[in-house]
Amino acid sequence: MCGIVGCIGKNKGREYIINGLKTLDYRGYDSAGVAFLKQDKITIYKDAGSVSHLNSLIPSKEEGDVLIGHTRWATHGKPNKINSHPHMSYDGEFVLVHNGIVERFAEHKASLIEQGVTFKSDTDSEVVVNMIALFYKEEKDVLKAIRRVMETIEGSYAISLIHRGENRLYVLKNVSPLLVGIGEDFNLVASDASPMIEHTNKFIELGDKEYGYIEKSSYKIYNFEGQEVTKELISKDISLVKHDLNGYDHYMLKEIEEIPSVITRLVNHYVLDHEFNFDKDLINKIRESDHIIFLGCGTSYHASLVGGRYFEEMLGIPTASYIASEWAFHPMFPGKKPFIVFISQSGETADLIHCLNIVKQYDYDTLLITNTSGSTLERGCKYSLNIQAGVEVSVASTKAYAAQVAMLLLVVAAVKSNIKIAHEIINALPIIKKIKEKQEDIKKVANFIKDKQSIFYIGRGYDYYLSLEASLKLKEISYIHSEAIAGGELKHGPIALIENDTPVIVFITDHMTANSMRGNIEEVKSRGAKVFVISTRELSKESDTIVIDPYPNFLSSIIVSTAAFYLAYYTSLSKGYDVDKPRNLAKSVTVE
Ligand code: AGP
Repeated sequence: MCGIVGCIGKNKGREYIINGLKTLDYRGYDSAGVAFLKQDKITIYKDAGSVSHLNSLIPSKEEGDVLIGHTRWATHGKPNKINSHPHMSYDGEFVLVHNGIVERFAEHKASLIEQGVTFKSDTDSEVVVNMIALFYKEEKDVLKAIRRVMETIEGSYAISLIHRGENRLYVLKNVSPLLVGIGEDFNLVASDASPMIEHTNKFIELGDKEYGYIEKSSYKIYNFEGQEVTKELISKDISLVKHDLNGYDHYMLKEIEEIPSVITRLVNHYVLDHEFNFDKDLINKIRESDHIIFLGCGTSYHASLVGGRYFEEMLGIPTASYIASEWAFHPMFPGKKPFIVFISQSGETADLIHCLNIVKQYDYDTLLITNTSGSTLERGCKYSLNIQAGVEVSVASTKAYAAQVAMLLLVVAAVKSNIKIAHEIINALPIIKKIKEKQEDIKKVANFIKDKQSIFYIGRGYDYYLSLEASLKLKEISYIHSEAIAGGELKHGPIALIENDTPVIVFITDHMTANSMRGNIEEVKSRGAKVFVISTRELSKESDTIVIDPYPNFLSSIIVSTAAFYLAYYTSLSKGYDVDKPRNLAKSVTVE
């Protein structure tokens, strides 16, 4: 799960590669590397750590005619220097960068070792470069060698390859995305358009099992059968967004505090002059459907749970929300006219792309709810709605979550032709600003939980969905084991985990479930739990930790989530962790 870049014929190619890798580090930041080809000489720089660290290793005058670069999220082999890309073939003739996973790589590796190939790393990618080198010895033609590799291996790959002494950049692709950027006397390669957009807005997109080569003013792409394919030029209207902390210490804090302005922008985008501004065809398709299927991962899946509730309660349309990676192995299309909604901040999540490929075999309508224009999922879905959150840098999703939920609510409001809901969203936003004023109380909770082994979040209904998201946020950046439990499920098992001083965070924002939740509090307290209650004023008790002003109950996930985000943020901060780039994670999960 990685980002790859490449360039040929580009002045200041190194600058493109380094900036491009910085743009792509949402796909992984375990290690980074670059290879320079200058005539017959290939020089590789790589190491564990960030792209800035990589840049500091490269002598200032280093340049090349053909360059490839990589930012890695480790799948096979530890995140160390040896396993970092680029990888060179055993004979030193080929170097590649790879995003994806080669299936049954251990078998291939064993067979290559039998044929005398030596390996340096534990990666599946090194298998590919060695296989190419070996086939090349027989074929004496790089394209033929590549094709034989594609016939031999299975799995996902976006690969950019250089061959000693050849002024060419070879490419091959299956499942993982790969774009070629077409310039004037130079050409580029990258996992997505963002690193290239500063240099060109003309692209070709490689299809699955396509391969070819790129020179500085031309390119040739072939299909799996070896026939040359004419690629359609696409142009992308993506504006370049510069990341800026704007005086904040961390992107996460900045992004939490952007939530009110993001939601305002979202509502203003989809509501013009008190009228909904949606594609009418989309709204009609939803009205006509008899079942909505939501697919998402992580935070986006949690947003889909809230969305499902909106569709069922407010529109009476049955829904099912699935974790994408689960659904992919057991695809279900309930109803006669299902409508499929993909939710993905990045639009590049591999599990969702897998689901989309399944859905494409049928004739069902698809909608993507996303924060990223021009993504792989956007290209594949019939409809797309942008959540207008602006780039989200922190790996922990905050403003995108709030905006996804608000987007789903606006869609429901539009289908219902109920403009009042849009006004209710806007009217509730000042409450988020008041939660900010309670940061000192939140810090005290963070201080209590920071050294605990385990923590529980409990709630029912909307508050349960909130608990799921709050718990994910805490664990991903503070590394504290955390679980979300539906209040009613406690005594069916999880309560066995409660002991003296176990922290339990309770959300009480729904009058329907408030009494039951108060009952749950007594149950955990009597087993020694240290309870922190986050409640709305009309349902609050004096002992509650954070009391929030009233708002329409269905907005909990947008409003109260901010309190949970602050708690995760301050807990991670107090432990001295890298809040924005937590260990083992990547902003976008681009392998299954
Ligand atoms: C949330 O904080 C996460 N880092 C993660 O769960 C994320 O929401 C998930 O990987 C889905 O990403 P997507 O929305 O880009 O598809």
